[in-house]
Amino acid sequence: MRTSRPPCPDAAARLIQRRSNLRPRLGIVLGSGFGPVADAIRDAVPIPYPDIPGFPDASVPGHAGRCIVGTWHGQPVAVLAGRSHYYEGLDWPEVTFGVRVLAAMGVSELLLTNAAGGIRRGSRPGDFMAISDHINLMGANPLRGPTAPGRERFVDMTRAYDPGLLLRLKKASKATRIPVFHGVYAAVQGPSFETPAEIRAFARMGADAVGMSTVPEAIVARQCGLRVAGLSCITNVAAGLAGQGQQVTHAEVLDVARAVAARATRLVEAWIRLAA
Ligand code: HPA
Repeated sequence: MRTSRPPCPDAAARLIQRRSNLRPRLGIVLGSGFGPVADAIRDAVPIPYPDIPGFPDASVPGHAGRCIVGTWHGQPVAVLAGRSHYYEGLDWPEVTFGVRVLAAMGVSELLLTNAAGGIRRGSRPGDFMAISDHINLMGANPLRGPTAPGRERFVDMTRAYDPGLLLRLKKASKATRIPVFHGVYAAVQGPSFETPAEIRAFARMGADAVGMSTVPEAIVARQCGLRVAGLSCITNVAAGLAGQGQQVTHAEVLDVARAVAARATRLVEAWIRLAA
């Protein structure tokens, strides 16, 4: 049970805004595989998470841990390079703090990226999936507890992933000729990967990919009134689907994530360009 007060996103937003005059409308959270996107930002002002009051430090290898404000194709953008996960032992306000900070900064469109295991038949490592909807299998909801001042308690999730932003991902796929399929992302707590029986169950529920992030951020972003898009990089075939003896390893996830980084960057770049 948490006893300390949740961190204040306004104070964090003010600190970031003191370091950069840009006032981005677009926010991006970079998951595994999307890290090098940060290198494409121009006039970048990087602010390490430890400098920002209330920000938990992102501790997983492959997650860098800084907020970057800059421009891309002339558009001001705020990028969270590195995210916190529930499996690290953090509480929900910490896991979703970055999204609340982006909202406090005035960001109105948010692209959440991640690495995921492919459940959809035929999906392969290196594929990309635009998230059309999600299934929250984390066994908890980030809105549990006191409602942030001025926010709704019961948040509608019928169109959690904005149709207009989804269309923009479709156009980005066409413009870059990088195939992107649309599908349902199932979120689990982790950090263990799933059993084959769990994956078979998730497939029957309608999941196309599985991962350990994004859903809490999407829920909080919707509570803050942000339009949300989600983009998964399929880094591995989900447990049990690639035949007996197949294992899922974090090393494989990171290897594939590294291999797709250039394509991931091109996709996100096209998505930004189309936001103009
Ligand atoms: N399961 C859960 N999370 C993941 C996976 C997976 O197979 N791959 C990348 N993140």
